Amino acid sequence: MSFQMRDGVLHVEGVPLPVIADAAGTPAYVYAATALHDAARSFVDALAPIARKQLLYAVKANPHPAILPTLAGFGFGADIVSGGELQAAQAGGIAPADIVYSGLGKTREEMGAVLDAGIGRFNIEHAREGEVLSALACARGMRATALLRVNPLVDAQTHAKISTALTDSKFGIPYPEAIGMYHRLAALPGLNLQGLAVHIGSQITDLSPLQAAYRRAGTLVAALRTDGHCITHADLGGGLGVSYRAGAPGADVAACGAMVARETEGWDVTLLFEPGRFLVAQAGVLLTRVLWVKPGQPHPFVIVDAAMNDLARPALYDAWHEFIAVRPRDREHFAAHVVGPVCESGDSFAHPRAIDRVEEGDLAVLATAGAYGAAMASTYNARALVSELWVDGDRFDVGSDRMPAALARPQRVPRWMAVSGQR
Ligand code: LLP
Repeated sequence: MSFQMRDGVLHVEGVPLPVIADAAGTPAYVYAATALHDAARSFVDALAPIARKQLLYAVKANPHPAILPTLAGFGFGADIVSGGELQAAQAGGIAPADIVYSGLGKTREEMGAVLDAGIGRFNIEHAREGEVLSALACARGMRATALLRVNPLVDAQTHAKISTALTDSKFGIPYPEAIGMYHRLAALPGLNLQGLAVHIGSQITDLSPLQAAYRRAGTLVAALRTDGHCITHADLGGGLGVSYRAGAPGADVAACGAMVARETEGWDVTLLFEPGRFLVAQAGVLLTRVLWVKPGQPHPFVIVDAAMNDLARPALYDAWHEFIAVRPRDREHFAAHVVGPVCESGDSFAHPRAIDRVEEGDLAVLATAGAYGAAMASTYNARALVSELWVDGDRFDVGSDRMPAALARPQRVPRWMAVSGQR
């Protein structure tokens, strides 16, 4: 266990969190190297029954530069969705052949850059993207290796904002149109279409929607082969959920591996997996300090120095992150709101709930914040970008200092352009 109470103080691996707060200030994301290793190992072990596979870390979950090289050591490549993530993957030492470019709104410039970098494959979202990609590849005298993303029309039974295979989803080609679209794109001269991709959503803890989606993908693989297509790859996406709340279990990764092995038996393809959250969520906490405890009726407001700009998940998805005192004062709990300083009522981490009793100046963490935490941080309210620190055993890295809000944006030099031709 990477986050543990020892002698009444919450530790990350061998380091007491107050030591980190003194050295680096708050708020700060604190990541545990061992937790990342543990999650990567359990994912790799769960998929051991699958012989032909490619593991890709969904960089969007947390692009911190320390993560990619670590995961590469476990055999992971990268699933990217932007030119910025391409840079992150390359800086992390991921070989082009181990990168998959997903994403709904790829620009022509990004597609060109990715082709020029010799990236392994594209997941195509719609017809025009396929046509433009084919033309860009032809212009370079090459063929782009690609999969067609299909919307299997399966409700992932997760939060609506992170479901991606509903009937009104913007992602992929709807299941009933998939075969027709595949024929059309496979005929393009600049594409080497090798199969399908599905991804139905995120924070999925019940495996049955995943199973239903994979079944539909299997039906399509068989139908496309019957039609004469050479199908060599199937990308099963990401989506495995973790436990955010005591009593609410995460996905059973070993059971998922066994289910995948069963469902894909006989597909005779290389399977691709794109986990994000599962690998990094439990490796991070958001360390924060209580600024004030403001009386409220009927419940007080615990005002902390972290805010929705540092961790957006509660404001965006009503997500639950446990609030844990770093030095619990007693076993007593009290019912309170936990809120940040940002000028919006949505800047709240806990609607009244029973939390450890805390007072002004106390440290606390918002737990399970390693995925989609720092990755989604902003400088709203001109707050500094939250800092991120790694702990490995009894050492911690204070190298990544928080960037002042003013520096988080490029220096702005006015450069006016007139449209009238007159000055
Ligand atoms: N592949 C594709 C095509 C995706 O869109 C995603 C996530 C993943 C893989 C990785 O999914 P994961 O294994 O992490 O569930 N910000 C939200 C989650 C957004 C997920 C976006 N796509 C949150 O904080 O809950």
